[in-house]
Amino acid sequence: MLQPTLTLLFSLLFLCCLSLPMASESAIGVNWGTLSSHRLKPSTVVNLLRDNKISKVKLFEADPAILKALMGSAIQVMVGIPNEMLSLLGGSSVAADYWVQRNVSAFMTKGGADIRYIAVGNEPFLTSYNGQFINLVIPAITNIQQSLVKANLAGYVKIVVPCNADAYESSGGLPSQGVFRSELTQIITQLVQFLNSNGSPFVVNIYPFLSLYDNGDFPGDYAFFQGTTHAVTDGSNVYTNAFDGNYDTLVSALGKLGYGQMPIVIGEIGWPSDGAIGANITAARVFNQGLVYHIASNKGTPLRPNVPPMDVYLFGLFDEGAKSTLPGNFERHWGIFSFDGQAKYSLNLGLGNKELRNARNVEYLPSRWCVANPLSDLTNVVNHMKIACSVADCTTLNYGGSCNEIGEKGNISYAFNSFYQLRMQDSQSCEFDGLGMVTFLDPSVGDCHFLVGVIDRGLNKDSSACQKTYQWLVIVLLLILHGTFFLSM
Ligand SMILES: *[C@@H]1O[C@H](CO)[C@@H](O)[C@H](O)[C@H]1NC(C)=O
Ligand SMILES: *[C@@H]1O[C@H](CO)[C@@H](O)[C@H](O)[C@H]1NC(C)=O
Ligand SMILES: *[C@@H]1O[C@H](CO)[C@@H](O)[C@H](O)[C@H]1NC(C)=O
Repeated sequence: MLQPTLTLLFSLLFLCCLSLPMASESAIGVNWGTLSSHRLKPSTVVNLLRDNKISKVKLFEADPAILKALMGSAIQVMVGIPNEMLSLLGGSSVAADYWVQRNVSAFMTKGGADIRYIAVGNEPFLTSYNGQFINLVIPAITNIQQSLVKANLAGYVKIVVPCNADAYESSGGLPSQGVFRSELTQIITQLVQFLNSNGSPFVVNIYPFLSLYDNGDFPGDYAFFQGTTHAVTDGSNVYTNAFDGNYDTLVSALGKLGYGQMPIVIGEIGWPSDGAIGANITAARVFNQGLVYHIASNKGTPLRPNVPPMDVYLFGLFDEGAKSTLPGNFERHWGIFSFDGQAKYSLNLGLGNKELRNARNVEYLPSRWCVANPLSDLTNVVNHMKIACSVADCTTLNYGGSCNEIGEKGNISYAFNSFYQLRMQDSQSCEFDGLGMVTFLDPSVGDCHFLVGVIDRGLNKDSSACQKTYQWLVIVLLLILHGTFFLSM
């Protein structure tokens, strides 16, 4: 009788010690998106996270190679389920069981990946989705929760549903007037009941940049954390930055549903560094650094003084050159690191290092670029450029971008090079009917950077394995030749 009680007591004590420091301090994590044509090896990225002391990461999908690389790293993981899978998982408990088995349980072995959250859907209530996912959310979280119970993981892995801040609004822009969009009231009520009964936080994505981008009247200085000439006065509360105002609008909206104390996690927040007016390196650094210091101050917000958000996931870890540009060209430039894991600006994440540390052992393609051949007649180049830019990333060329002022020939070269690197410097990809030419001189001008791709072991496993075998063959052959040479002397 005594022994089980003691064991229980000890495990309770153990759990308390484990969870106390985490509950009281909010931590900075990152979103690791992978919509890039030049991806680093997952193990390189995990080392990058560890070098930067980043202990929380959010994934948009259960990518097995990434989860495998995270095994044993002690990094806490939020793993996402894309909206496109909600219908399947909500409609079939077998599919949900299978998803949990293959994408969660399989990685949570001893010394495995530390999966803490499953993000079911990504901003499923977004206005621009026209309601297509709204009714799929509750069935999906219900099934996944049951699957977690069956897998004995329900106490450890929590379900969340990241919402965009467009799920709520407030009349007159006053945080105290926050309410969820009327067509969402019913579904969000069900959602927060579920979250509350499972001990899950409400996850919200907040983007002051988009408020600025979408609304010419939005005061620029209100987006940052450096004081403003446009403070918002709401009763006795004064708001000096858009983040606090937005956050408290959510707190009010939750309060109206009876959940004013529900813990909040910021699932995405950040500032792009290119691709639009107002998206530049300086603004991105000032915003992200201001945010980090604001969170670290533990000041909280007027409606939640001294209670900062539980966790804050920056968006994002890398620039993702294959993201849709539908929202704007800035969409491919949210990274605190460029696609190749190099810090874009100085940033103290408040996690122990004063500066970002770059990725180590990045394997680049050779230092060569494809540019417009200066000797050829470029009058018929437009079509080539269009095709190149329809697959490769040329977003920095546009108005507000870092390469907007490199001239017509510069434009062509930039497009050619983007395409050439995308095609892993395949020699045919620099032909363009004789208009392209490979150069060994870096054509970058000023802030406009002409990239060199990285070797993507993830995507080209076969060809790189092939290449290795080939290299060995060459070495062996050389040795044999060498041997015969010596013998014949
Ligand atoms: C695991 O997740 C991935 C990525 O979301 C998905 O493609 C795959 O179908 C999932 N596996 C199962 C068994 O559902
Ligand atoms: C960078 O963006 C900020 C606002 O986001 C703007 O005020 C500033 O003028 C921009 N700087 C440059 C050099 O364009
Ligand atoms: C270069 O291309 C961009 C984007 O299409 C355009 O805005 C800019 O005017 C071009 N520059 C020249 C000199 O043609």
